[in-house]
Amino acid sequence: MSKKVTVGVLGATGAVGQKFIKLLENHPWFELTEVAASDRSAGKRYQEAAVWRQYSPIPEPIKNKTVKPCEPGLDCRLVFSGLDSSVAGEIEENFARAGYIVLSNSKNHRMDADVPLLVPDINPDHLGLIKTQRERRRWTGAIVTNPNCSTSGMVLPMAALHRTLGIRRMIVTTMQALTGAGYPGHPAVDMLGNVIPFIGGEEEKLEAEPRKILGTLRDGTVQFADFKISAHTNRVFVEDGHMACISIELGKKAPPTEVARILADYTSLPQEMKLPTAPERPILVTEERDRPQPKFDRDAGGGMSAVVGRIRECPVFDIRFLVLSHNTVRGAAGGAILNAELMERFNY
Ligand SMILES: NC(=O)c1ccc[n+]([C@@H]2O[C@H](COP(=O)([O-])OP(=O)(O)OC[C@H]3O[C@@H](n4cnc5c(N)ncnc54)[C@H](OP(=O)(O)O)[C@@H]3O)[C@@H](O)[C@H]2O)c1
Repeated sequence: MSKKVTVGVLGATGAVGQKFIKLLENHPWFELTEVAASDRSAGKRYQEAAVWRQYSPIPEPIKNKTVKPCEPGLDCRLVFSGLDSSVAGEIEENFARAGYIVLSNSKNHRMDADVPLLVPDINPDHLGLIKTQRERRRWTGAIVTNPNCSTSGMVLPMAALHRTLGIRRMIVTTMQALTGAGYPGHPAVDMLGNVIPFIGGEEEKLEAEPRKILGTLRDGTVQFADFKISAHTNRVFVEDGHMACISIELGKKAPPTEVARILADYTSLPQEMKLPTAPERPILVTEERDRPQPKFDRDAGGGMSAVVGRIRECPVFDIRFLVLSHNTVRGAAGGAILNAELMERFNY
């Protein structure tokens, strides 16, 4: 690519916005030219507006950039959105109407029938929905979403198994990191020595989103996959990395060794196309009996691989295992950047 594509970040001051800024630093195809946030931040220099919570300093070119309001007119071709869901819906539509490609992390448009819920390693063909979206909404831009932070990791092993053995039913229990709730998130006194067994709207997302992602695009609509999921979600005292304990009833039974082989062998289009943010392996299988663990495994594949461990038979269903994935990388900014890379390659 000779000239870099200009990009902006909406919600640039938040937890996801900051991860975008970090991951876009030195990106081979994209150049971050605009940062935008709420009226509280607009007009300030970025370093004054954001409470920076990353382990490396604010990239030099961004530090003194003026934060803009989230309105079309930004000098860039596509925008990554890390906007709070209370405002994301309308703002993202305004940008798509003005001709921008919008890569959204918010829940607002994920389940819209004409909006791709995209995971390039699984359903790159769902980009076909953009044609319907543009015709129906009469805009030249597009909204493309990535899944909820815990769905993003879990759906990778689900895809590998559903396409080979079939999934009939599944129960998932998550242990989700604090950064999943944004900054400042839960007060420390609520979290220390505690587990919060409720994350608003999360179980519904985990039960619905995989069925759309693994659905089939036919005649301009996605026919949802027909398995059932029962989800329990919990917030735990972990900084980054969402863990999911999964039990699955398979269409065709298989021993743990075969399941491990299917998962470890899974690769897809982003690997073939060598997209810059694609991990070499979307799924990494660990055989250690006490892994994955958030502290040690969340950065696997640059935070883009789902790490699966403890694959074993399930006495109630057929197979059970753990999945760990990085909630702000694969589960948010990294996932959206991979989506944008796929769209660039397909000239959207
Ligand atoms: N954290 C995760 O792991 C994760 C993962 C996947 C998806 N998500 C989703 O990503 C989105 C952002 O999450 P987050 O954790 O980054 O939240 P956050 O830390 O609370 O950041 C929210 C961002 O939205 C901006 N904002 C709020 N009200 C606004 C308004 N009226 N107009 C314009 N901008 C406004 C904030 O700007 P100011 O600083 O100026 O207020 C801030 O930049 C949410 O929809 C969330 O559900 C989060």
